[in-house]
Amino acid sequence: MEAQPCVLENEAAKVPPTSIVIFGATGDLTHRKIIPAIYHLEKEGRLDAGCAIIGYARRPKTDDEFRAELRQALGEVSRSKPVDETIWRRLANRIYYQQGDLLDEQGYQQLAARLQALPESARFGQTHLFYLATAPEYFGPIAERLARAGLTPLPGSPAPRRLIVEKPFGRDLSSAQELNRILHTHFPEDSIFRIDHYLGKETVQNLLYFRFGNSIYEPLWNRRYIDHVQITVAEKLEVGRRGGYYDSAGALRDMLQNHIFQLLTLIAMEPPASLRAAAIHAEKLKVLQSIALPAEDELLARSVRAQYAAGAIDGRPIPAYCQEPGVAPHSKTETFVAWKLEVDNWRWSGVPFYVRTGKALARQFTEINIVFNRPPSVLFAAVCGQRLSRNVLRIRIQPNEGIQWIFNAKLPGRQAIHEVGMDFFYRKDSSQYLPEAYERLLVDALVGDATLFMRSDEVEAAWGIVDRLREAWDRQPIPDLPLYQPGALGPAEADALLERDQRHWRNGDEG
Ligand code: BG6
Repeated sequence: MEAQPCVLENEAAKVPPTSIVIFGATGDLTHRKIIPAIYHLEKEGRLDAGCAIIGYARRPKTDDEFRAELRQALGEVSRSKPVDETIWRRLANRIYYQQGDLLDEQGYQQLAARLQALPESARFGQTHLFYLATAPEYFGPIAERLARAGLTPLPGSPAPRRLIVEKPFGRDLSSAQELNRILHTHFPEDSIFRIDHYLGKETVQNLLYFRFGNSIYEPLWNRRYIDHVQITVAEKLEVGRRGGYYDSAGALRDMLQNHIFQLLTLIAMEPPASLRAAAIHAEKLKVLQSIALPAEDELLARSVRAQYAAGAIDGRPIPAYCQEPGVAPHSKTETFVAWKLEVDNWRWSGVPFYVRTGKALARQFTEINIVFNRPPSVLFAAVCGQRLSRNVLRIRIQPNEGIQWIFNAKLPGRQAIHEVGMDFFYRKDSSQYLPEAYERLLVDALVGDATLFMRSDEVEAAWGIVDRLREAWDRQPIPDLPLYQPGALGPAEADALLERDQRHWRNGDEG
């Protein structure tokens, strides 16, 4: 008989009455992620009837126009189809629009007055969650204006006032420190929720449960048994309409500083003292602090940057990155990065962590491969030579979320050995529903649980590492950035990075 699940505290808790104020309310993120997440929380009965949603943006618009716009966008998000009109109407009655400029002080005074006048204010009182879904240059100015309008946390008040900050959180260490300084002037650290949406993904959360909820992995999880670790976040989509932002970011800032480092810390961290946010953040921070960076020449030799050329993926023409709208015609921004990192601590010393990410690649997949030491071949040398395949634990973050062990077994009917896979895939069991990352993150921010958000010191440590590579790149500009064909898995240089160490990338469709 199957054991009953052990349910952690907070699960299925109703979120307390809160006003959720979204800055950047007419943007893509609000339409595609935030409102659909709120709708699903309403549907699951997680939102208290005293929760109101207020969109704040520049364009004049009535509440009804705003609601109609959100309803239309909701219908286009596949997970929400078909939209349950009864639920939507119940939610839409508590959605409001407040017109105002992000920099205009008066707008914030009007917002404060509007919050008090809403019918739900009798329930949410002074409890507010401010969601900054705007361009990053507004994060600091919004916090300052909220403070002047009396909307920041009140000393001694039991009513929480919290801030969700979207990425990017700074563009290097000094800008992240400056942003932290401004935010901390008005909000204590435990009221600031910095989003990395990868932490909201079920399979990413499962890394902790998988590692620390089983007894068989821990003895193997170290330099004695593990040869190396690979983390790949491959995207099939090209930069598309986001060229303006992306050209000043690049793959290193856009994906590696946040998402890839979060995956790496969850794989490499020591068991935390508890599942509380502070204990988990402390262990993740130690991993980042243990990343050893070599001298500049070696740092450059361990990294690969490249850009996609013109080509096609599955017959769909793809312009060269430099011809994408919003991108400088001679841009040297990388759309692909690979890096060999070392976590130089007692557990991992000598175990390389190879990471890579890129756009316009052959397949969309995010995967972590833990590659174990090669078994001695003595017994099977006659059939397989000196090189038995290594055992691999393949953790599939998306799509086809799951976990697979790859090991050697006898080929039936033959005196031969081959690799086989033993797997668990979430979607084999259709009753397994994987909630969207934003649903989980919103609930956690509403109840004040910061475990799945990035703490200030973590963000700064991650920037410190990325800055070292960025500065090395800037000091040694290469006249010709390597190009790769759309639909490939990056440039040949990325393959060479592993081949030098007699290793190869695992490309998602193997095993
Ligand atoms: C975002 C990046 O943080 O993550 C995008 O800015 C990227 O460039 C996206 O496409 C990937 O997220 P996901 O959930 O689709 O893997």
